[in-house]
Amino acid sequence: MNPQPLITTTEAVDKALYVIFGISCIALLGVTVAMVYFVWRYSRKRYPQPLSQKDHNVWLEITWTIIPTILVMVMFWYGWDGYLSLRRIPDNAIPIQGSSRMWSWLFTYENGKTSDKLYVPVGQPVNIRLSSEDVLHSFYVPAFRVKRDCVPGMETYAWFVAEEPGSYDLFCAEYCGVAHSSMITTVEAIPAAEFAGWLAEKPVATSPGIGLLQKHGCLGCHSLDGSASVGPTFQGISGRQVTVATDGKNRTLSTDRIYLKKSITDPGADIVEGFPPAMPSYADQIPAEEMEGILDYLMDEEGNKAEDKGPIEAKQPMEKKVEAEVVEEQSVEPTATNKPAIPANPGQTLADQNGCLGCHSIDGTRIVGPSFKGMMERERTIIRGEQKEKILADSDYLTRSIREPSAEVVEGYPAIMPSFPDFSDDDIKALQDWLETLK
Ligand code: CUA
Repeated sequence: MNPQPLITTTEAVDKALYVIFGISCIALLGVTVAMVYFVWRYSRKRYPQPLSQKDHNVWLEITWTIIPTILVMVMFWYGWDGYLSLRRIPDNAIPIQGSSRMWSWLFTYENGKTSDKLYVPVGQPVNIRLSSEDVLHSFYVPAFRVKRDCVPGMETYAWFVAEEPGSYDLFCAEYCGVAHSSMITTVEAIPAAEFAGWLAEKPVATSPGIGLLQKHGCLGCHSLDGSASVGPTFQGISGRQVTVATDGKNRTLSTDRIYLKKSITDPGADIVEGFPPAMPSYADQIPAEEMEGILDYLMDEEGNKAEDKGPIEAKQPMEKKVEAEVVEEQSVEPTATNKPAIPANPGQTLADQNGCLGCHSIDGTRIVGPSFKGMMERERTIIRGEQKEKILADSDYLTRSIREPSAEVVEGYPAIMPSFPDFSDDDIKALQDWLETLK
């Protein structure tokens, strides 16, 4: 399978390059010298009349056909041979999975270890099996003369061998979106013994949360140290005051678990001011359990809390900020003080059992949906289809908004509530009775 002695990708490409470059230089020199000589030799000043009437010379024409053909075939041969060397994987190459996504790399070794830098042992060929999770990227390591596209839905590969220890640039060489340029990392070539040690070593004892952020490439665009990058930093993200653009309107909110989850699964919905609407959705890429791990880390991790939680109004009571029409509203995570009390009433029990209180507060605070406080018999602006309309929140409206919540959406709120077709008329009545007590 591999009859020739190993030649490295660098040797293969460089040989072809030097041969082609050398032949081109000789041709350039030959053509230039002949041209200058002819200009002098056949100048009209020296010979006003043509010296010869001959219109062709068979041997001359054969010569200038055959010599260039040979030169071109020589260049082709070296190019082809070099290409085959790039495509022929040495038998002893270590397989490494190279996964690309907007906008980072993830390398996975045979024992399951992952890294965002490509660690390789010196003197040992590696075969990088390339794939893409989203769009076209290109794996490019100039030091080893390898460049190969990463194509969604298709595995490609590139192999190389690092002959000297060192750190070599690794780029994405296919424009893949706004943070294309941040898909820069390195190939770390280390002595074989050191590599074996690195491979066996358990991942550095960072928190599992950081591990997940690394695994999903979050840290390519979001820093942990407060520095600005493509996206906002994760440092102090829990409870931070942010101004976001939602459907073209600015509003200020305080980041909570629900907001963060939405930013991961539906990043285009609320765009943080000053950042490009660039993040792709990770809804299908992060398993539920890992999503929880990431949210746990972002919300709770010690040292990830903001020193300063932003403008002072964040700490004030929210009773007065109720109206959906108000653009600037606070969204807060339920805490000990604003969490609903123990249910006491059939309607409240229903609301609690069906998870309503996860999104609707009873104290006027905005969580995800409008607060239940003072909800009944209030005039609201709703959006039905494309139309805006003012309606009175009566029992009919309550029924519709539970059984078919997406038909009429209160202005200023996302159309995300699932429908609850199992609510009976009696349930809705109980709920309404309870809501009417929340004035
Ligand atoms: Cu990935 Cu450019």
